[in-house]
Amino acid sequence: MLLEIAQYGNPVLKEKCRPIEHFDDALKSLADNMLETMYAAEGIGLAAPQVSVPVQLVVIDIPAEEESVSFLQVNGEDKKLEDIMPLMFVNPVLEPYGKMHPFHEGCLSVHRIRASVIRPDYVKATLTLLDGTVITVDCNGLLARCLQHECDHLNGILFVERVSSAQKITLKNKLKRLAAGY
Ligand code: NI
Repeated sequence: MLLEIAQYGNPVLKEKCRPIEHFDDALKSLADNMLETMYAAEGIGLAAPQVSVPVQLVVIDIPAEEESVSFLQVNGEDKKLEDIMPLMFVNPVLEPYGKMHPFHEGCLSVHRIRASVIRPDYVKATLTLLDGTVITVDCNGLLARCLQHECDHLNGILFVERVSSAQKITLKNKLKRLAAGY
């Protein structure tokens, strides 16, 4: 089932999301609907607050051919992207590390705006899968980027809040119009 994607200006995007406590069918069904919604919108990641449910649930699907992901380990073992995609998880704990890199980000909740955000290129993530299994994912490139972007959503933070102050000035009017129209 397709869900409506909350747009910039909607207060649900500012909420600090609560952790998932029950690993039940309702959770699985919400995750499936989020994945379907993300594919339909041609995104690579979606967080539950973006479908107006303020809980710590994220779905990600990054194409296997994504070359920027040159390092990926799950529970300490080397893996390929297709081994773990689509990735659906709750209650993430992230430890970003490594060199800071600029990258143009976009977001299904912030229409037609892309902006450069500087973040560490690597991340070590402790993720709980939908069956309650806890895994550690250590990675770089687009997956590390996406994990940081999506987990920001769970803390009520949008990428446009992480851009440089010069870019903030450039984006100010566009964002005002988005918020007015939401
Ligand atoms: Ni986003």
